[in-house]
Amino acid sequence: MRNIVCLLGSPRPKGNSAVMAQALCGAAEAAGAAVRTFALNGLTYRGCQGCLRCKKEAEACVLKDDLTPVLEAVRACDVLVLATPVYFGEVTAQLKGFIDRTFGYLQAGYAHLPRGERSRLSPGKTLVFVIAQGHPKEELFTDIFPRYAYLLNWQGFTESRLLRACAVYHLGDAEARPEVLEEARLLGRELAAAPGDGAA
Ligand SMILES: Cc1cc2nc3c(=O)[nH]c(=O)nc-3n(C[C@H](O)[C@H](O)[C@H](O)COP(=O)(O)O)c2cc1C
Repeated sequence: MRNIVCLLGSPRPKGNSAVMAQALCGAAEAAGAAVRTFALNGLTYRGCQGCLRCKKEAEACVLKDDLTPVLEAVRACDVLVLATPVYFGEVTAQLKGFIDRTFGYLQAGYAHLPRGERSRLSPGKTLVFVIAQGHPKEELFTDIFPRYAYLLNWQGFTESRLLRACAVYHLGDAEARPEVLEEARLLGRELAAAPGDGAA
């Protein structure tokens, strides 16, 4: 059974990114995956403190707060879904706080290690970015996904996928876009299948 962890980065519990993530995760669950969802906005945590203790004396982030069980769940997942609105051309602060804390997933000396040995996580994980963008211009903010896909590749997320909707601004906008929800469900069903399933 595929283990999916979904992190909601929006402060709006029923916002567009959450609706898209829910369509994806609901379909994955119906297709047999185990899904655990964390709403980051309800948690209390700090960003990375740059103490480097995870590189000197520990194998994981030494901060103990509400993000600790989230980091542990992500460590064990097959698929990580990161759902976020675009805020000032970026992911939300809530999600960025989590991303910075994944520094603890990198091995000591990671910068000089060959690809495949940099991460403390088991290889072959899939990253899914779910992005809700208010602006209708599709050519705007296209840098977000490739940037984080590249960075999280170092951590063992060797495959990355994108579900993105533009021109979704108000609550209910994504809900009213059947093609977006259908794309989400299709991706969810695909992700629920272990790699190689049905390939014969
Ligand atoms: C603080 C803030 C900053 C935003 N910045 C942008 C932006 O830079 N570009 C954009 O297209 N939309 C921007 N938006 C609009 C959101 O991306 C849009 O409303 C999105 O659907 C919100 O997702 P949610 O419903 O999941 O919270 C911003 C909204 C807020 C509240």
